[in-house]
Amino acid sequence: MFFKGVKMRLLAAIPLLTALAAFGDEASSSRPETSSQQPVAATPYRFEVVSGDPGEQGERLSAVLGCIGCHTLDLTGEDWTEPELGVLWTANLTQSAVVYSEEELTTMISEGKRPDRALMDMPSYLFSELHPDDIAALVSYLKTLPAKGVVHPDPTIGPTLAKQIESGYFKDSVQQVAEMKDKAPPDLGPEHAYARFILRATCAECHGMDLQGSTEPLMDAPPRPGLQIVAAYSAEDFSTLMKTGKPIGDRELKLMGGVSRWRYSRFTDSEIEAVYDYLLALARRGP
Ligand code: HEC
Ligand code: HEC
Repeated sequence: MFFKGVKMRLLAAIPLLTALAAFGDEASSSRPETSSQQPVAATPYRFEVVSGDPGEQGERLSAVLGCIGCHTLDLTGEDWTEPELGVLWTANLTQSAVVYSEEELTTMISEGKRPDRALMDMPSYLFSELHPDDIAALVSYLKTLPAKGVVHPDPTIGPTLAKQIESGYFKDSVQQVAEMKDKAPPDLGPEHAYARFILRATCAECHGMDLQGSTEPLMDAPPRPGLQIVAAYSAEDFSTLMKTGKPIGDRELKLMGGVSRWRYSRFTDSEIEAVYDYLLALARRGP
C-alpha cells in the first residue's frame, strides 16, 4: 500500500481546512461571477457506467474515490492511531457491510453519520453530491465482499484532539458535510459541469475545493500545485499522468504518482477528457 508508513491521521482534516481557508479569501475578492460557492446542481451526474453490474461499477468507484487508499486495498482498514490525537482506525468495510443495512451504509458514505455517532476523518463531504445510483453501486460492491478480519475499535479523543475540537479546528464528518455542502470547484459553464462534478469528488480532496492547491503539509509530499498547471500538458500527456502517474519532464511525483496509479488509472477515457478540458478552461480563465 503506497500510503503505508506515513502519518495518515490528518489526511482528511488538512485539505478540508485548506479548502475552507480558500473560501475566506474568495469572500473578500471581487470576482463573484467566478465564485466557487455556487452549489453543484442537484447531482444529475454519474461517473461513466462501464458495466450493467452495479458491483463492478462500485469496485471501480472504490478506487477512483480513494476508498482503497484509506481503507486499504482489501478494504479491511488500518490503524491511524496517534497517542496525542487518539485511537483511530479506518473501518473494516468488509465487516461494516455485514453489520449495517444498505440504507445505513448510504448515510455513512454520503453524510458521515453512523446510526450511533458521527464519523471522524471520513471525507463524506466529497461524496455528499454523488448520484444515488453511484452510492448504491458502492454499497452493493461492499455487500459482495467476503467478511474478513475483525471490527476495529471506535475512535478515542486524545489531549490534542480534545483541544482541537474545543477550539473548532477539528470537525467531525457530519460537520464537514454541512460546511462544504454548497461548495464546489469554479463554475465554468454548462459544458464543464460534468467535469466539475468529477473534480469535486476527487481532486478537491488534496488540491482544495477551489483547485488552487496548497502548501499545508500533507504527509511528506511536496506542496500541491493549483491545477491550472495542467495547461502545460497536452491531452495525451495528461492522460499518461492519470493512467501511469508519470508527469511531463524527466521527473517522478511523490504522492501524485501513486494516487494516479491506484485511483485515476481507473477513470474512463471520457472522464479524463472532461477533466482535462475543464482544467484547460480554468487555466485560460486566468487568476
Ligand atoms: C481520507 C480517508 C478516507 C477515504 C478516502 C474514505 N474513508 Fe471511509 N472512513 C475513513 C475513516 C478514518 C473512517 C473511520 C471513522 C470513525 O470510525 O469515526 C471511515 C469510516 C467509514 C465507514 C463507517 C464504517 C463503520 O463500520 O463504522 C464507511 C461505511 C466508509 N468509511 C466507507 C467509505 C467508502 C465507501 C469510501 C469511498 C467512497 C471511503 N469510505 C473513503 C477514512 C476514509
Ligand atoms: C491524495 C492527494 C491528491 C489527490 C486526491 C490528487 N492529487 Fe494531484 N497532487 C498531489 C500532490 C501531493 C502533488 C505534488 C506532486 C507530488 O506528489 O510529488 C500533486 C500534483 C499534481 C499535478 C502536478 C504534476 C506535475 O507536473 O508536477 C497535477 C497535474 C495533479 N496533481 C493533478 C491532479 C488531478 C487532476 C487530480 C484529480 C483527478 C488530483 N491531482 C488529485 C496530491 C493529490
